[in-house]
Amino acid sequence: MPNILVTGGAGYIGSHTVAALSAAGYSPVIVDNFSNSQESVITRLEKITGAQIPFYNADVRDGAALDAVFSQYSFAAAIHFAGLKAVGESVAEPLRYYEHNLAATMSLLAAMQKHGVKSLIFSSSATVYREDDPVPYVESGELGCSNPYGWTKLFSEQIIRDVAAATPGFSAVLLRYFNPIGAHSSGLIGEEPQGVPNNLLPYVTQVAAGIRPQLSVFGNDYPTPDGTCIRDYIHVSDLARAHALALGFAEKNTGATAINIGTGRGYSVLEVVAAFERATGVSLPYRVTARRPGDIPEYFANPELAREKLGFAAELGIEEMCRDAWRFEQGRKD
Ligand code: NAD
Ligand code: WQD
Repeated sequence: MPNILVTGGAGYIGSHTVAALSAAGYSPVIVDNFSNSQESVITRLEKITGAQIPFYNADVRDGAALDAVFSQYSFAAAIHFAGLKAVGESVAEPLRYYEHNLAATMSLLAAMQKHGVKSLIFSSSATVYREDDPVPYVESGELGCSNPYGWTKLFSEQIIRDVAAATPGFSAVLLRYFNPIGAHSSGLIGEEPQGVPNNLLPYVTQVAAGIRPQLSVFGNDYPTPDGTCIRDYIHVSDLARAHALALGFAEKNTGATAINIGTGRGYSVLEVVAAFERATGVSLPYRVTARRPGDIPEYFANPELAREKLGFAAELGIEEMCRDAWRFEQGRKD
């Protein structure tokens, strides 16, 4: 079974991808410093996969540590999730974000170069599109970011493109995720934010669980049908599956290819609230508050390139996303 290095493999999307890789016949090897995840995720992954998952508690920016891992395995490819991801924090601490995320990407590329590994799947984001791009966002759209976190994704894309261009036989897939939510069907792994959640679904499940009194809906005066913002939510297990498909694509193609991973369908905040209530039977107290600075009224993916290049289409709907997120939240409480 081909060994795949998964940086950040204990995190939210990384852990689901490790499960998907294992199911697809790959042998994932995790490098994670557990700065935003728990070591117990590894045991939970072993329960899900029935396989032993090798892991290394190391910082991807630590070249010597990475070198040691690359020396132990012959990797067919690397999937790079490790990095900082809080948009607001990146505005307050831009240097930390640029230093961390760009150093992590370059450190991994250097280790790959040294050990002759020529296949990389990178966690990019829909945040690399310009806010005024027409929806649905298409890969050939204009790029440009409104916060340092976004720029670290766009700059990482560029660094990877340059390395791919300079390295014969190098293949990079830049997956631009839309809004991943939900959790593994086992209820064993899911999103585990530290402190007060920034993102909608973790906040929703914590309100439903009684941890927080009510949801704040950030603005209902946007130019959308119900006035609340529209996003393309995708089940994290669908997103994880796209990574296994991207590995197959990378085996057969060279160069760098950016691909949207979304469903192609947008839901407003109020539609998500309604879907959550339908899927779980739990009523969700909310109140409308002021807009959150920086929010864009509406965006969703054009998912055609993913279909064409990867044979990928999202399968799980919004209610399944809500149901699975809720199952995971309830498991956490027990
Ligand atoms: P996460 O924080 O849950 O996972 C990241 C993992 O990387 C964590 O386990 C963390 O401990 C680890 N990590 C961070 N810095 C590290 C370092 N220097 N060395 C080793 N390990 C390190 O985040 P996630 O939601 O799973 O996101 C994974 C990737 O996808 C990130 O690059 C993120 O920017 C990107 N992304 C996320 C979203 C989203 O909405 N969650 C959307 C688009 C893109
Ligand atoms: C979704 C919608 C909020 C919380 C962020 C990053 C983006 C990407 C994914 C990585 C918005 C509304 C939210 C709440 C609310 N990450 N909301 N009440 O902002 O689309 O994307 O995560 O690359 O870069 O910006 O996701 O989940 O924060 O918000 O009303 O308590 O829910 O206003 O319309 P967002 P989100």
